[in-house]
Amino acid sequence: MSSITKKAIMATLFLSFIIYTSFVYTTGTANDAGENMITEQSKNGKLLFQKYNCVACHQLYGLGGYMGPDITNVISGKGKGPGYAKAFLKSGTQRMPDFHLSDNEIEELVAYLTYVDKTGVSPVKRFKINYNGTVAQN
Ligand code: HEC
Repeated sequence: MSSITKKAIMATLFLSFIIYTSFVYTTGTANDAGENMITEQSKNGKLLFQKYNCVACHQLYGLGGYMGPDITNVISGKGKGPGYAKAFLKSGTQRMPDFHLSDNEIEELVAYLTYVDKTGVSPVKRFKINYNGTVAQN
């Protein structure tokens, strides 16, 4: 291979690297889907979630305490939903404390749980992996 060809290959690779890098660090990271999904109401709900330390008993995205269930997908869960979550927050149960939340606080917490529901799935889906490493369709 002539040295001109080598230099041409090197220049092409270098140029591709520059173009790709500038794409990744500009438009490639420009939009944050999570930021668009969170509202003022769900931000307040997040603060309440922290204030009442819900994570002491519940998991979000699989992380947290284990006294209560994982509530990442309580809003879209089968047979569950916003009304279902509100019922727990309104009066607690024998095992979950009643926090004497105001109606507004309940709305904000449900808005936060709705946001969480849209941004993750827990427990993580398990896929069947084929012998050659590809994921099986089911
Ligand atoms: C002391 C532990 C504890 C704390 C703190 C707690 N919870 Fe719970 N929560 C539970 C338990 C236990 C259950 C299951 C209750 C039952 O089935 O009787 C539950 C159930 C729920 C459910 C229904 C879940 C489902 O899938 O059935 C929701 C929603 C919920 N809690 C939200 C919250 C929120 C929001 C907070 C914070 C404001 C919170 N919890 C704080 C223990 C707790």
